[in-house]
Amino acid sequence: GAPVEADISKLQPGEMMTVEWRGKPVWILRRTKEQLASLAAVKGEVADPDSARSEQPEYCKNTYRSIKDEYLVTIGICTHLGCSPSSKFQPGAESGMGADWKGGFLCPCHGSTFDLAGRVFKNKPAPDNLPIPPHKYLADTKLLIG
Ligand code: FES
Repeated sequence: GAPVEADISKLQPGEMMTVEWRGKPVWILRRTKEQLASLAAVKGEVADPDSARSEQPEYCKNTYRSIKDEYLVTIGICTHLGCSPSSKFQPGAESGMGADWKGGFLCPCHGSTFDLAGRVFKNKPAPDNLPIPPHKYLADTKLLIG
């Protein structure tokens, strides 16, 4: 599969877009400051906090699993059995996740939950964090995935 370009110029903080790469959904989430802060808060609750055994390019092996802190680029396919998680950004009743939920992704198939860096929470069926595909910035608002 050829690399695909993504124009992220219209993405507002807290918004997510999806592009297709090699037949897979790639999510691009522009995280707010609060969302970035929530990642440190859940560090003790995720199964592989430093992404030691998860799949990502070397340049994304960091706290936010990204090149630029704001932008998460991840493959939206559950590492359990390949369902597509849905975005459940908000805590509280709307997400159905309870008040301690900091926001993230929920896989409808067997209930795996992921934070806003795609890190899987402990004691869930998914073994690893959501994979980060190879990517780079062609310009401030243009990404190349693949
Ligand atoms: Fe996602 Fe099983 S496929 S939890």
